[in-house]
Amino acid sequence: MYILLMGPPGAGKGTQAANLVEKYGLPHISTGDMFRAAVKEGTALGKEAKACMDAGKLVPDEVTIGIVQERLAKPDCAKGFILDGFPRTVAQADALKGILKELGFSLTRVVDISVPNEALVERVVGRRICKTCGATYHIKFHPAKQDGVCDTCGGETYQRADDREETIKERLSVYDAQTKPLIDYYQKAGLYSRIDGSQSMEKVFADVEAALQMCGQNV
Ligand code: AP5
Ligand code: MG
Ligand code: ZN
Repeated sequence: MYILLMGPPGAGKGTQAANLVEKYGLPHISTGDMFRAAVKEGTALGKEAKACMDAGKLVPDEVTIGIVQERLAKPDCAKGFILDGFPRTVAQADALKGILKELGFSLTRVVDISVPNEALVERVVGRRICKTCGATYHIKFHPAKQDGVCDTCGGETYQRADDREETIKERLSVYDAQTKPLIDYYQKAGLYSRIDGSQSMEKVFADVEAALQMCGQNV
């Protein structure tokens, strides 16, 4: 399955991708995670990405398309993948079309996890992530058993640098301006399914799975 997860910041893309990884064993390709890894390594890509991310802006298309192209060509993607947070612009979607054509893959479904903006601010500001294994928590909706400590690996949890209230507002407006046009783009391609991301995590996952059963029809 070649799955594309879209949705605004905090919608639950990473949370649902983790469920899909567990169930289907496909690689999870999150451009945000790739940029954060580059920031941690202190590479030139990391430095460029950090400035954009901290400001709530998108990393330039050429840079983002380049890293995705390289990643999708790796052998583990041949049986499928879960793309999370890419594409985010029409230029990226056009580039993805070309990359997939070259590799002989075609998208199974584009699943858009939809959540109203008011709920997203609370989700993002309350998010905590494990420094060691990347597991995601929420101080209210999915708290770790012991505050600040990952349930899975015992690692320390932290708050992302771009998860401040001021930055999230900018990220939401960037999403509306630059990424929302992709709804129409994938609707026209007959690949688009919108699901209600304001439900419980379990119910959202059930809807993601139902959407993946849809083939060649818009819902
Ligand atoms: P990225 O890391 O992709 O951030 P994002 O798109 O803003 O999305 P998030 O990771 O914030 O949210 P999510 O949907 O994964 O939600 P999660 O599951 O964690 O990108 C970061 C930055 O990198 C961008 O701003 C940009 O600068 C750059 N970038 C990345 N891709 C790019 C691209 N293609 N082009 C250019 N630049 C790019 O859930 C959020 C919280 O809510 C968690 O705490 C979770 O526990 C909780 N939660 C999840 N589901 C539920 C639920 N159903 N009910 C209650 N709480 C829930
Ligand atoms: Mg994410
Ligand atoms: Zn952990």
